[in-house]
Amino acid sequence: MAKNTLIPHSISQHLLLTCLLLLCSNFHPSSSSAETLTEAQALFQWKEMNIANKSLLQTWQMVNGTSTSPCQWRGIACNPQGSVTNITLSYLDIYGTLTNLNFKSFPNLISLDLKVNYFYDPIPETIGVLHNLIFFDLSTNLFNGTIPLSLANFSRVIELDISRNYLTGGIDGRLFSGSPADGLPGLLSIRRFLLQDNELKGQIPSEIGGMKNLTLLALDGNPLTGPIPESFGNLTGMDILRLASCRLSGQIPKSIAKLPLRDFRLQFNNLTGEVPGELGSLGTLVVLHLAGNNFTGNLPPKVCAGGRLVNFTANDNRFTGPIPASLKNCTSLFRLRLQNNSLASDVTNAFGIYPNLTYIEMSNNILFGELSDDWRFSKDLYAIKLDKNTISGRIPAAISDLNNLNELDLSSNRLSGELPLNIGKLHKLLNLRLNDNNLSGSIPSSIGNLTNLLQLDLSTNRLTGSIPSEIGDCSKLQTLSLARNGLNGTMPYQIGNLVYLQTLLDLSYNALSGEISPQLGRLTRLAALNLSHNSFSGSIPKSLGDDMLALLVVNVSDNQLEGSVPNSFAFNSSSPQAFANNKALCGFAKQGLTECKTTDTNERNDRGKTRRTIVIIIVASLASVLFVSLLVLGLCFVLRSRRVKEEDTEEVHKVAKKQNIFAQWNYDGKIVYEDIIEATENFNDKFLIGAGGSAKVYKAKLNNGDTVAVKKLIANDMEVEEIKSFANEVKTLTKIRQRSIVKLLGFCCKGEHTFLIYEFMEMGSLERVLNDDVLSRNLTWAKRIAVIKSVASAINYLHQDCTPAIIHRDISSKNILLDSNLEAHVSDFGTARFLKPDSSNWTSVVGTYGYIAPEFAYTMAVTEKCDVYSFGVLVLEIIMGEHPREEVRRLLDKSDDEEDINIKDVMDARLGADTDQTSNKMEQHLRSILKIALLCLAEDPRFRPSMQQVLQMLQNVE
Ligand SMILES: *[C@@H]1O[C@H](CO)[C@@H](O)[C@H](O)[C@H]1NC(C)=O
Ligand SMILES: *[C@@H]1O[C@H](CO)[C@@H](O)[C@H](O)[C@H]1NC(C)=O
Ligand SMILES: *[C@@H]1O[C@H](CO)[C@@H](O)[C@H](O)[C@H]1NC(C)=O
Ligand SMILES: *[C@@H]1O[C@H](CO)[C@@H](O)[C@H](O)[C@H]1NC(C)=O
Repeated sequence: MAKNTLIPHSISQHLLLTCLLLLCSNFHPSSSSAETLTEAQALFQWKEMNIANKSLLQTWQMVNGTSTSPCQWRGIACNPQGSVTNITLSYLDIYGTLTNLNFKSFPNLISLDLKVNYFYDPIPETIGVLHNLIFFDLSTNLFNGTIPLSLANFSRVIELDISRNYLTGGIDGRLFSGSPADGLPGLLSIRRFLLQDNELKGQIPSEIGGMKNLTLLALDGNPLTGPIPESFGNLTGMDILRLASCRLSGQIPKSIAKLPLRDFRLQFNNLTGEVPGELGSLGTLVVLHLAGNNFTGNLPPKVCAGGRLVNFTANDNRFTGPIPASLKNCTSLFRLRLQNNSLASDVTNAFGIYPNLTYIEMSNNILFGELSDDWRFSKDLYAIKLDKNTISGRIPAAISDLNNLNELDLSSNRLSGELPLNIGKLHKLLNLRLNDNNLSGSIPSSIGNLTNLLQLDLSTNRLTGSIPSEIGDCSKLQTLSLARNGLNGTMPYQIGNLVYLQTLLDLSYNALSGEISPQLGRLTRLAALNLSHNSFSGSIPKSLGDDMLALLVVNVSDNQLEGSVPNSFAFNSSSPQAFANNKALCGFAKQGLTECKTTDTNERNDRGKTRRTIVIIIVASLASVLFVSLLVLGLCFVLRSRRVKEEDTEEVHKVAKKQNIFAQWNYDGKIVYEDIIEATENFNDKFLIGAGGSAKVYKAKLNNGDTVAVKKLIANDMEVEEIKSFANEVKTLTKIRQRSIVKLLGFCCKGEHTFLIYEFMEMGSLERVLNDDVLSRNLTWAKRIAVIKSVASAINYLHQDCTPAIIHRDISSKNILLDSNLEAHVSDFGTARFLKPDSSNWTSVVGTYGYIAPEFAYTMAVTEKCDVYSFGVLVLEIIMGEHPREEVRRLLDKSDDEEDINIKDVMDARLGADTDQTSNKMEQHLRSILKIALLCLAEDPRFRPSMQQVLQMLQNVE
């Protein structure tokens, strides 16, 4: 009896056990055989299972399942007993994961160096078994997930660098050290799972403080949160501590100030409170970065106690109090940035002589006192920025001894006295801003020696005398403002030599007289001209209208001008205030002027209109130039930026208006329908701008002046139900708002016509531009790289940010459209699925020959990875200037054989001549991009990166 019942019982127990075992082995596929893998087998398995570009590791070979020692393999080093001690695979652009690397097989590993690759996915918990590690560097990869809890077992580690990944912190800031022998801390994983949404998640594990022998710890560039653990104070051998660009909060623990730190980086976090005053007192500091936090209180006074400090930044905080005393004799100093704080200090004697200092910026504080003559001895200085303080006294004449100076910004202070006579000795100067002070006297003629100058702003001072004609020798000037002074005399005609002026020429609010020089017409790139509030007389030279094609804003008010206002966009569109208070100007009524007798107003109107389109294109390109120059030079000309804002809001209104028109985008949208029929003369071929298998594209200029692209579908025998679902889908698509995606404005489906209405892109398709020898030359390398990045971000948007994800299915150069700035916009996605599979056009809607991923041929499955493949082809096409065709195979083979691909062999030769300034750096960038493209072209879709990863990789380029 008992036996009878026992047997089934034990069977069921047995079954249960088997199931559990099965379950377990399902969870950890390799763990059961783990113990038995030799080092060679473990490495080989890792390569086979997890590394996409296997060819990099060709020496990693097994023969009949066994191998000779791995000690000769690439990147492997062993101890005398033949056991692996070092794995060094840095800077190889490896694309892969650590998932199946069986760490247990390497009991003697002391160094794991995988920096600068494309490793992704989380770092496995099992890594904790490597408890002999002394060097651990996984920096600059794409690892995500949490910092493994098991790192706590690295008790001997000396250098630990996991910077520049996408790692988040441990649960509540604790590493659960678990039992390393078990490999996976099972219960702890469960606990972590349960705590996943705990608000404490993401902190730096405090157990790192137990790694007593650490000398380098780098966690910077990861999305960590929470405070810096107190326990770091125990790391008494710490030399380099890098925690920048995380999202750390709280205060700097006092104990850290007592560590013998040489390099301490905390910039760009949300840290608060005071910086411990002892910081630096050990005299070890060489680099200290505190910038971009919310620190308050004083700067650490002993920061340069050891006389070794080279780089010090504390800008963009809320520091108050004096300049640290120890900086005065800090001759080692190389760069100093303290701007955007509330430092209140007398600068007269706060600084000494710095033979190595190249850059000093203390703008936007409350510094006072005078500039010392001693600055002239800091010969290496190339930038001095002390603007927005309350510094008084004269500009020391000796400053002109600083013959390396590129940038001098003393604007918005209380400086008085005259400009140094020999200021022209600063011949390397690019940017000189002395505006908004109390400077008097005249502008020295030596200013003409500043032949490299790009920006000159002397506005809002008390300068008198005439404008020296030598100013015309500053031939590279882009911005010139002498406004709001007491300058008199006539306008030197040499100003017309400044043909690179583009942002602003401002002579307003002076006492200038005589005629406006017709030579100003030579300033064909200038966007804004202000001559108001002077005593100019005579008429406005016609050349100002005829030749200054880039001009957007003009102001000639409050002068003695007469005669007709020139005819150009800037003059025609200016408001009455721009012409007010002159002697006798004539023009349009809307300009507040009386009509001129001799001018044919009709002609004025027409010419004004045709100019408009040109001008709009220029507006956009200027706006981008302006943006860059604002960034680079920190310029902010109120007048100009206000104008740009207006343009922006105008643009916004235009877009909003467009959307309103098509608000009734469904099949009842009569108004639009009729408009479009009219604008295209019932789809007359003369408006045709493109045609494909399934659609024809027309350019339509609507009554309201907007130009749109109308895509008329050829297959249009839809039923009502189909139309409804079509309408719903289109509605979703019209909601897509991403910079680099062509906006779908609406659609109509009525009568015999079904059509979609898109934003119009002036330059047409990328295919067209690349096929045109002239147009393609305008698409410079920088622009091509921008196109690649835009397309990547657009596809990533479709894959990541749309629910359900949208697979484009047809990424090719004919579907990338370029606007007037040659910026890329992805078009023509999502609509493919509306077309019936049985229609004769089916082949044309599943992709374009030459861009289709190889697996599509046998699986017919359209996945995101198909888009990745097509993107890879597209990138090659952009680099090569034509479709790569068979070259794809050859390049892949070459990279498989790890032959060096000479980027010059594949670069579009038509750009060859323009590559001086682009040269080496550009080639490097293109080489990196080419490598990324080749990853996208992997035969096996699983080994292609996701579009998100592609984007991350591209962001690393530069
Ligand atoms: C590999 O195995 C095959 C047969 O299994 C044998 O003929 C060959 O000699 C082996 N090669 C080596 C290098 O051991
Ligand atoms: C192995 O790593 C250790 C620790 O970083 C290092 O000192 C040693 O030079 C490395 N050996 C080789 C052969 O790379
Ligand atoms: C890591 O990133 C991949 C995409 O690259 C994503 O699928 C995965 O969920 C991420 N894992 C974690 C733990 O965040
Ligand atoms: C730390 O380093 C010292 C000296 O280099 C060594 O004796 C000690 O064993 C190391 N500590 C650990 C935990 O490895």
